[in-house]
Amino acid sequence: MRRPMRETPLTEGLEYKRGRLRLSGSPLEDAAEKFGTPLYVYSPELMLARLARVKAAFKSLAPLVCYAMKANSSLALCRRLAAAGAGVEVVSGGELSIALKAGFQPRRVIFSGVGKTRVEIRQGLRSRVLLFNVESLGELDAIEAEAARTGVRAGVSIRINPDIDAHTHRHITTGLAENKFGLPVPDSLAAFRRAARSPNLRALGLHVHLGSQIASPVPYAKSARLLAGMISRLESEGHPVKYVDVGGGFGLPYGGPALDLKAVARTAAPLKRKGRTLIVEPGRFLVAECGILLTRIQYVKRTRARTFVVLDAGMNDLIRPALYGARHPLVPVFRRAGPPQRVEFVGPICETSDTFGEGAAVDPAPGDLWAVLLAGAYGFSMASRYNGRPLPAEAVAGGGGWRLARKRETHAELTRLEA
Ligand SMILES: Cc1ncc(COP(=O)(O)O)c(C=O)c1O
Repeated sequence: MRRPMRETPLTEGLEYKRGRLRLSGSPLEDAAEKFGTPLYVYSPELMLARLARVKAAFKSLAPLVCYAMKANSSLALCRRLAAAGAGVEVVSGGELSIALKAGFQPRRVIFSGVGKTRVEIRQGLRSRVLLFNVESLGELDAIEAEAARTGVRAGVSIRINPDIDAHTHRHITTGLAENKFGLPVPDSLAAFRRAARSPNLRALGLHVHLGSQIASPVPYAKSARLLAGMISRLESEGHPVKYVDVGGGFGLPYGGPALDLKAVARTAAPLKRKGRTLIVEPGRFLVAECGILLTRIQYVKRTRARTFVVLDAGMNDLIRPALYGARHPLVPVFRRAGPPQRVEFVGPICETSDTFGEGAAVDPAPGDLWAVLLAGAYGFSMASRYNGRPLPAEAVAGGGGWRLARKRETHAELTRLEA
């Protein structure tokens, strides 16, 4: 029997109305009927509200908010962020192309990544990106050589490896000495000085990114202290630091405590000066909560050990649980009254790690529609075709309905590029 139950929002913009789940006022079952499952659905409205929240928390510092596009490079979302005046952080030539297509202004593009190729560096120079975040001395050489060749003076910011533990999952921590990212402090200072002397480079900034899903302002405070010391050293030598990028990694309260963004902003306040721009690079914080992966139950398989609810979405669509043990809440699109059973939600992929974990379901049955929440970040952008499964479709909410943002791939497209 289907009967409406308590109707309070689950997360911002997500609520049951007469027992049916809606995202920003658009009923989720309509999206599934229109475009099939598995399907990613997004609310650009919620994403823009998140952007406003970041801007409000950092208001007195007026930072350039550069969206870390790796979290979700859907044009439908990126276009909205670009139109709202956001900048963007890219980590490949591909992301740079998407960013420009989405309408981000080149002077608001930051190019990071430990392995930029010569081709990508040239692409960044031709596009006149604001800054290359330099991750190694070898890369500094490569940027200098390409800048000399192309005649475009490259703006560089040195990414520091601060050796600060952000107390997050080991796969998403980036600021420890053993991580591949950034340069140790002495090398960072040397790289900045070298860039300042080069006729082909403009030494403009310092950058730190500590990791992802950071729940406390404490690591940001440590990093800000380190940055302040380095800046005063460089400036005392006559090298002004015009951009200070304190990174992203703002954690979401996936069940735990929420990161106090205003407290993070307070840690960055001493870094702000006249003539210096502060940069923040949130990815997950802007898009995670605005996205849902819609999926239907294929089978309910009861064994002696447990009840498996086999979904039509798997680790190829959303790899975070398998990759980092991430937990995503699952809720039914139609609320059902009755005693919940403990089940394990699994995907169709031939891997034991293809599981969304345990949860509760009332009378689960094939065909039921379920919503995997907090799936807007590192969901579609990490999706693969593993097990010969086409990439899922994407749709956006608006005006109470849905618009297709990306078509579902076909089987023919699985082999289209093969010789
Ligand atoms: C350099 C850089 N900036 C920003 C981010 C965004 O992190 P998050 O999505 O956790 O905000 C990342 C994520 O890996 C990153 O590598």
